Amino acid sequence: MNKMENLFNELVENPNVSKPDEPLIIEDRAEINHYPIKEIKNKIILGDTFKVLGKIEDEVFDLVFIDPPYFLQLPNKELRRWSVKTVVEGVNDEWDKFSSFQEYDEFITKLLREIKRVMKSSGTIWVIATYHSIFRIGKIMQDLGFWILNDVIWVKTNPMPNWLGVRFTNATETLIWAVKDKNCKKYTFNKDYAKQFGIGKVGANVWVLPLCLGEERIKTEEGKKLHSTQKPIELLKRVILTSSNEGDNVLDPVAGTGTTGYVAKALNRNFVMIEINKIYVKGMEKRFKQPLRLNDKLIEKDKHLNSYLNFKSPNEL
Ligand SMILES: C[S@@+](CC[C@H](N)C(=O)[O-])C[C@H]1O[C@@H](n2cnc3c(N)ncnc32)[C@H](O)[C@@H]1O
Repeated sequence: MNKMENLFNELVENPNVSKPDEPLIIEDRAEINHYPIKEIKNKIILGDTFKVLGKIEDEVFDLVFIDPPYFLQLPNKELRRWSVKTVVEGVNDEWDKFSSFQEYDEFITKLLREIKRVMKSSGTIWVIATYHSIFRIGKIMQDLGFWILNDVIWVKTNPMPNWLGVRFTNATETLIWAVKDKNCKKYTFNKDYAKQFGIGKVGANVWVLPLCLGEERIKTEEGKKLHSTQKPIELLKRVILTSSNEGDNVLDPVAGTGTTGYVAKALNRNFVMIEINKIYVKGMEKRFKQPLRLNDKLIEKDKHLNSYLNFKSPNEL
């Protein structure tokens, strides 16, 4: 971990620790037909997001983060590294399988349509994806009337190399940040944080940080990764600090290991997490019992990294 990441993750006292006796999980059932926001605040809902979202009232969320299935379309066989022949751990989960682009697009469209309904008019949404799907998602968002404010490029400091050497190593993911429609002008943008996190003097829309590894990664009892695509705490910290305020309601309707809610809670926001997989929900519950402490203080930028990444004209390089 470099100096900058160390500073961002510096631990400070956070008073927002949950009351241990309150149940954290709601199991969605057919008999439940309505979820008032006050009853689902700071809860993990185990269930199909389409059924659950349909029971939530209109315009209640200030911030939505989604990291939907990628539809990576990996071959149905073991991938091995070219030189050492060890197995590559790709994303080969059932939740990432769709029969066609059409089926995938329908999933994304349905999800975004429901999200739009539950977002406040001042709310914003972040969507993260790789090149496999981000372009489709962007088009669908625009077709549904979302108004894109920015894309932010996450540059990974520790990407998985392209083992076969047949393409560039894919070291980026794209985040789209948007409001519900063009007329939504009163959204939250905390520009000082944006400047702190973005590269260069201007705080550009490029975030440089590592993939989630080591201690942060949630493991099964056998010591394996619980989830193949757990996102880094630092990434969600940047999303939440730049685009929400304390006390805001934050939704992640395809929550996985619940990184969004875990970070939201540490930063004194309310969260609603929805996830269909019982094993991930159990993992989330365990995770949420270990309070996270985060430093949200604005800090001076790391000079070394910034001078390294500063924009220069080609003649100066
Ligand atoms: C890319 S992962 C999210 C990972 C997450 N951001 C994290 O940090 O752990 C997408 C998740 O969507 C969930 N999912 C897919 N379809 C769903 C549905 N219909 N309802 C609820 N969750 C769903 C999958 O189980 C998977 O955990």
